[in-house]
Amino acid sequence: MNESCSSKRLNGKVAIITGGASGFGKSTARLFVRHGASVVIADIQDDLGRSLCEELGSEKTVSYVHCDVTSDSDVKNVVNFAVERYGKLDIMYNNAGITGDMDRTILGTKGENFKKVFEVNVYGGFLGAKHAARVMIPNRSGVILFTSSVASVICGQSPHAYAMSKHAVVGLMRNLCVELGEFGIRVNSVSPGAIATPMLRKALGLTTEALEEVVRSSAILKGVVPTTEDVAEAALYLCSDESRVISGHNLVIDGGYSNSNRSFLTAVIKKLSSVVEG
Ligand SMILES: NC(=O)c1ccc[n+]([C@@H]2O[C@H](COP(=O)([O-])OP(=O)(O)OC[C@H]3O[C@@H](n4cnc5c(N)ncnc54)[C@H](O)[C@@H]3O)[C@@H](O)[C@H]2O)c1
Repeated sequence: MNESCSSKRLNGKVAIITGGASGFGKSTARLFVRHGASVVIADIQDDLGRSLCEELGSEKTVSYVHCDVTSDSDVKNVVNFAVERYGKLDIMYNNAGITGDMDRTILGTKGENFKKVFEVNVYGGFLGAKHAARVMIPNRSGVILFTSSVASVICGQSPHAYAMSKHAVVGLMRNLCVELGEFGIRVNSVSPGAIATPMLRKALGLTTEALEEVVRSSAILKGVVPTTEDVAEAALYLCSDESRVISGHNLVIDGGYSNSNRSFLTAVIKKLSSVVEG
């Protein structure tokens, strides 16, 4: 194998990325194409999806398909499209997601919003996995990846529906890992911390600069600000053969943030300094 061939870690693979028109999905599509994969970008933002395709290459390597992940027929269609156009499906990255309303209180959580968040984040991922499994099981190989969130491992910082939905994604991932392991199919998830994508910027009403400043000042790991490319690199690892025995893993991408809760220490320091001052 020559150098350029061996450095392409997804050579010959076929991938679908839901939510591929923006944020993590967009960076992952770009990286997967660079690593030799044929990529189907599935999203509801048609203009963004199509222009990304034009940027990334010809129809031989990248396509856009309108796909609302909450629609069984849309998800079935995008999986069938990938198989018809590129001959198979190796990677299904169920990444599309929404925050829903940002009210963090139980009393302020509206039923309709709750259902919508679950419909996109959980049922959408379930449909992606179901239709991917339909074509991967006969081939006895494949990788299914989900985007969960740091909200699946630490609580109290995001709205209930979002936090619950991201825990559910990890539950689905782990349950699928057990069922589909029998067929040689690996199933994992990535759980990013806060990263300045259009989704989070809009949800918090902050500019990229302001959001990155918040991320920087609250980080445990100093000196780097996480980007969508960091998530894409993790997705590349979990979808490539380098991770061939990794399954059932929720890879947290947060620079160690979720390991720490400094609120007690902060309160102690505050109390001691007020005693000294007093
Ligand atoms: N940005 C963060 O800080 C962060 C942190 C942890 C997890 N996440 C998760 O990452 C994933 C990607 O989000 P992002 O931050 O890149 O945001 P983003 O808004 O940039 O991208 C999300 C994409 O999903 C698409 N989408 C939404 N609903 C859809 C539907 N019904 N069908 C198909 N596509 C749909 C959107 O059109 C968009 O292109 C989401 O699951 C999100 O919950 C984000």
